[in-house]
Amino acid sequence: MTSTGTQTAPHVPVLVDAVIAALAIEPGDTCVDGTFGAGGYTRAMLAAGAGRVIGFDRDPDAIEQGRSLVPDAVDSGKLTLVEERFSQMDRLLADRGLGSVDAIALDIGVSSMQLDRAERGFSFQADGPLDMRMSRSGMTAAEFLNEGDEAEIARVLRDYGEEPRARAIARAIIAARPLERTAELAAIVRRAAGFRPGQKSDPATRTFQAIRIHLNAELDELEQGLAAAERSLRPGGRLAVVTFHSLEDRIVKRFFRERSGGTPAGSRHRPQLADPKRPSFERVAKPVAPTERELAANPRARSAKLRSAVRTAAPAWKGRVQ
Ligand SMILES: C[S@@+](CC[C@H](N)C(=O)[O-])C[C@H]1O[C@@H](n2cnc3c(N)ncnc32)[C@H](O)[C@@H]1O
Repeated sequence: MTSTGTQTAPHVPVLVDAVIAALAIEPGDTCVDGTFGAGGYTRAMLAAGAGRVIGFDRDPDAIEQGRSLVPDAVDSGKLTLVEERFSQMDRLLADRGLGSVDAIALDIGVSSMQLDRAERGFSFQADGPLDMRMSRSGMTAAEFLNEGDEAEIARVLRDYGEEPRARAIARAIIAARPLERTAELAAIVRRAAGFRPGQKSDPATRTFQAIRIHLNAELDELEQGLAAAERSLRPGGRLAVVTFHSLEDRIVKRFFRERSGGTPAGSRHRPQLADPKRPSFERVAKPVAPTERELAANPRARSAKLRSAVRTAAPAWKGRVQ
């Protein structure tokens, strides 16, 4: 990955072969790429024989660039790019006359394009404004850090960064306000967490992840996206989801376990349902991690995990993952 100003290294798609295998695309299939990014999965779907791909991304830059990344498919009408959140996919597909699709992929998180562009404010490797908004709308990281109270900032760092020194870092942020730049924030976090150069894990990574997840409501989006995918797949349709850390993976794991009937029915806290729901997913595959070879070529894939399953004919469940 580069980290110089606005230079962008191409995004190397993570676990793409495993995703395509899990999607089991048949010639002519209609597929959804819920996280278009740099179009790596979309290109692989088209190469595997997809007849049509609908690519969603909430980032206007990804959609804008996408047209030039896969021009032939856009021109021929095989690829439709939609600047929207994947949690809205069922409604947006229906608007386009696509009641149910054959395969859906979600590749959760940020793209190299977002990380490498200093002006997007996702990275502390290159100094940039504290922004971190995927859709370029809503509250910026600077607004959150300069206006939020200490308890709220500490909660975000703890819940979404699993940061053990959340309170001390939040206190240091408040004392240093106003904050404007990513390098400034990284320096404050390292000082507050007692980081020494050469130490294995940099606390700034956890803080940046936490703020990004919070501002973009990423975990909520993931939960809603899984449910939207469940409503959008035809019986026999395949769903493949790649995550990058345990908070995300836990949501996907629970979703597939619950929806495939693997959650124990009823407990003292959750009484048994009078009318148990029929599984909406089956053939839940074992999680797939990158091979040594993929990791050597793409260190960013380090903590990636793929989970996949096949949609049954049962109605989509209502409500969130338990
Ligand atoms: C890891 S990248 C995807 C890379 C892509 N698979 C490729 O091979 O180029 C994730 C992308 O998903 C987008 N994204 C994240 N959350 C989203 C959401 N809720 N709805 C739509 N797009 C989202 C981000 O803007 C980013 O471009």
